[in-house]
Amino acid sequence: MRPAVSIVGGSGYLGGELARLLLFHPGVDLKQVASRRLTGRPLHSAHPNLRGLTDLRFCEPDQLDPCDLLFLALPHGLAAGRIETYAALAQRLVDCSADFRLRDPESYRRWYGQAHPAPDWLPRFVYGLPERHRQELRGARFVSGVGCNATAVNLALAPLADAGWLERAVADLKAGSSQAGAVARPGSHHPERSGAVRVYSPTTHRHLAEVEAELGLLPVHMTVTAIEMVRGVHLTAHCFPSPQAAVEDLRQVWELYRQQYAREPFIRLLGGRGLYRYPEPKILAGSNYCDIAFALDAGGRRVVVMAALDNLMKGGAGSAVQAMNLMLGLEETAGLRFPGLHPL
Ligand SMILES: NC(=O)c1ccc[n+]([C@@H]2O[C@H](COP(=O)([O-])OP(=O)(O)OC[C@H]3O[C@@H](n4cnc5c(N)ncnc54)[C@H](OP(=O)(O)O)[C@@H]3O)[C@@H](O)[C@H]2O)c1
Repeated sequence: MRPAVSIVGGSGYLGGELARLLLFHPGVDLKQVASRRLTGRPLHSAHPNLRGLTDLRFCEPDQLDPCDLLFLALPHGLAAGRIETYAALAQRLVDCSADFRLRDPESYRRWYGQAHPAPDWLPRFVYGLPERHRQELRGARFVSGVGCNATAVNLALAPLADAGWLERAVADLKAGSSQAGAVARPGSHHPERSGAVRVYSPTTHRHLAEVEAELGLLPVHMTVTAIEMVRGVHLTAHCFPSPQAAVEDLRQVWELYRQQYAREPFIRLLGGRGLYRYPEPKILAGSNYCDIAFALDAGGRRVVVMAALDNLMKGGAGSAVQAMNLMLGLEETAGLRFPGLHPL
């Protein structure tokens, strides 16, 4: 029998993306999708792209039956507050919020301004970025999702950081509006958001905690700017190599990235010519790829690393499903091969 999976927080953007992926997944059955607001309504009442594709209706979060794997796609703080209840429902959990992304309880005070309500659970979770935690994810019971901005930075900088080539980096991120979720706020009102170039996090961002956890306490400076885009994260990282790296030629950088990523199914290194020689979030919408490219200043003083991904996919639900595949012993790429659309 195929494993049964369910979703809590299923009416949100991340929940909708999980439902889209899981309904057509070859190795699992989507059993229940919970929403308080839309209980009893069909899935397409929140996710119109799913109209006619499923008979599932939203259930009450309290009416979830036991299942093999439960996805939590709730706002920050809610999963940690009810972790015992959710863990009693399913043998395996994937929590897409930030509640279990960090191992050190003190990090929650520092980055989220409050004590973690279930610190004993933190060491039980594996950070759900397969490119860095593949072995731990195989067979894991408790997995956290990833931050979308953090994922762009982590994947883009990991080869330089792991090789000890990175002295300092400035990560300039452009973010799409779906990062903020499906609930409207004054800043997401169309006249305010449309056409905006809004720096909302000039000197730091909570996702930096995930970068520090993955890459070490390197000086990485992060700025996030909301731009006219629905899906997508775009990173331009100005990386200053350490003297011992002795970077003189772009081919050295290529070699480093090829060594690390040649066998990764969802990382593409871009080179060559033409419109799409550098990463572009637009053509990644709905896909699980992270595209990466680089350029080198004359004299090798600065490596500019560029990356793009879909925040709801590689930066959220896509990585979560990739992690699920590893947890359940399924083909890692199952259900995730959609290549995006072009033109769009
Ligand atoms: N958006 C992204 O790009 C992205 C990427 C990576 C990770 N994430 C993370 O994924 C999580 C969900 O994000 P999102 O963008 O999908 O948010 P969202 O659109 O606001 O959805 C939140 C969901 O949680 C449900 N919910 C809210 N309060 C609840 C409660 N007290 N009890 C039960 N359900 C409750 C809501 O459903 P009802 O009100 O219908 O019950 C809704 O389905 C967040 O933790 C976020 O950090 C998001």
